[in-house]
Amino acid sequence: MKVFTEKAKIKNEISFLKKKKQSLGFVPTMGALHDGHLSLVEEALKNNNQVVVSIFVNPTQFNNASDLENYPRTLERDIKLLETVSNEIMVYAPAVEDIYEGQTKSERFSFDGLEFEMEGKFREGHFDGVGTIVKRLFEIIEPDNAYFGEKDFQQLAIIKKLVEKHSIPVNVHGCKIHREPDGLAMSSRNERLKPEYKKEAPFIYRILNSAKKKFGTKSAKEVTEWVEKQFANNALLQLEYFIIADTSTLKPVIRKSHKKQYRAFIAVYADDIRLIDNIALN
Ligand code: PAF
Repeated sequence: MKVFTEKAKIKNEISFLKKKKQSLGFVPTMGALHDGHLSLVEEALKNNNQVVVSIFVNPTQFNNASDLENYPRTLERDIKLLETVSNEIMVYAPAVEDIYEGQTKSERFSFDGLEFEMEGKFREGHFDGVGTIVKRLFEIIEPDNAYFGEKDFQQLAIIKKLVEKHSIPVNVHGCKIHREPDGLAMSSRNERLKPEYKKEAPFIYRILNSAKKKFGTKSAKEVTEWVEKQFANNALLQLEYFIIADTSTLKPVIRKSHKKQYRAFIAVYADDIRLIDNIALN
């Protein structure tokens, strides 16, 4: 396993691979890897000659200082985990300085309104931070293919928009949500859940599944009210938002149309840990 901490060194290695016409797959992560990340890496390995995984907790996408501070950093364990998949993976694990060069600030982006919905409303500046880091990583790695999980469905839509608007030559692939056997969407934040919250958290996916069933016969408003009631009766989990949105615009649905694709999106606090999830409805 080759681990790089400096962009100059990984760029050098990559230019050597490019000369040999090797295709490059890329999986950007913030570390604390789990099976969901490994499934992205496996997908990348299947479809590319070489794979780079970046491990970087990006400060500019956090709007909450304690969330940034408490975000798990487990580089040694992450590398061991990646070795269980393949020894050929290249890891890029830079320090903040290598990426931001003394200017730890986001660029400002327009993502044609996608950034103002859901997570954008609750996490100010988050998508400028994501856009900044993903654009920089794409410039450093120059991948042919990049892989992102659908758990962060809005992030995936925004990254597709970033690539389109900035004409970045990379194919962005969305991969299915990986779940624990009890249904909880895999997330690096899950390991910070206290036991009673970990036990209760699969409630989120159960509710999403019930909402999906109800959406067959009920309006978005009725389904949303039903979900809000279920959380009002739950002593441990606090609902931040539940929104049924058009998959392409991410705008909340007012009136259903059988010609459109919809998804339900949810954000929930389990104590001080914020969990998100989503489900395709039709
Ligand atoms: O989804 C994540 O882990 C992060 O938002 C990403 C895409 C690696 C950018 O920091």
